[in-house]
Parts: sequence; structure tokens; C-alpha cells
Amino acid sequence: MNIIMANDHAAVELKTEIKNYLEAAGHHVTDLGVGNGERADYPDKGAEAAREYLKGGYDFGILCCGTGIGISIAANKVKGIRCALPQNLFAAQMAKEHNNCQFIAFGGRIEYPQPVTQMVQGFIDASFGGERHARRVEMIMEIES
Ligand code: RB5
Repeated sequence: MNIIMANDHAAVELKTEIKNYLEAAGHHVTDLGVGNGERADYPDKGAEAAREYLKGGYDFGILCCGTGIGISIAANKVKGIRCALPQNLFAAQMAKEHNNCQFIAFGGRIEYPQPVTQMVQGFIDASFGGERHARRVEMIMEIES
């Protein structure tokens, strides 16, 4: 898969852990995030990744900041984007199955009940349910118009 990632300075380690996991599994990662010793404002990174995703060619995106909250809010402000902030494996699966999100976000300063890489894999393995879920996702997107 072709995956886009971005992060601020509060989630460099988490971004690297996820990126290494994905690349070891054979995925291609485009990394718009910062590395060690660099700083970035999460609104810039969330918006940058969301806009890049919308150019096409990406399967999905992963955003990381201290909590995952700010960067997910920023991405969700970009028209057409649904970014979830899953709190566990089940929510990561549902972010795809029910909400058909193009992005998931995580926090480098958050303790999760499962390894984040497992949550990422759960999102990858899940499929959008369509039908009633498609209607509800359409309802969400109509709020933008
Ligand atoms: C940066 O200190 C921090 O505010 C940011 O990473 C994030 O947690 C915001 O939601």
C-alpha cells in the first residue's frame, strides 16, 4: 500500500515505530513529518498531509502528534477528509468498517491498550461495510456542503 504519514515533534518516536512496521511489511511510506530535533505545528502537518492525500495515489494516511487530537482536527478541516482518532484496536477497525476514514491519528504521549502497530494493522485489514454505513458517511460529507 501507499501510505502518507505526518507528525509533529511530540510524536517522532511513534511515527518512526509505525513507519518501520509498515516498511518492513512491504508498504511504501511518504513521510511529511519531522524528525528528531525538528519542531512543527500540528495544524500545518495535518493539513499538509490531508491536501497531499487528496492529490491521489495514496491508500490511506496516518497522523501523529502528542495526543493525536490536534492533528486529527486539522486534517478533518480539509474538505473531503475523515480522520479517526481510535482509542483501541476495535475503534481502529471500525474507523474503516463503519466510517471509511482515509486517515487515522495517534498520540505519541498516549498509552493505548494495544500496540499502535496492531491498531494500524486492524485498520488495514478491515473493509468498509457499505450499505447503511455508506449512507451515514454520505450524511457526514453533506455537512461540508
Ligand atoms: C505539542 O506540544 C502538542 O500540543 C501536540 O503534539 C498535540 O498534542 C496537540 O493536539
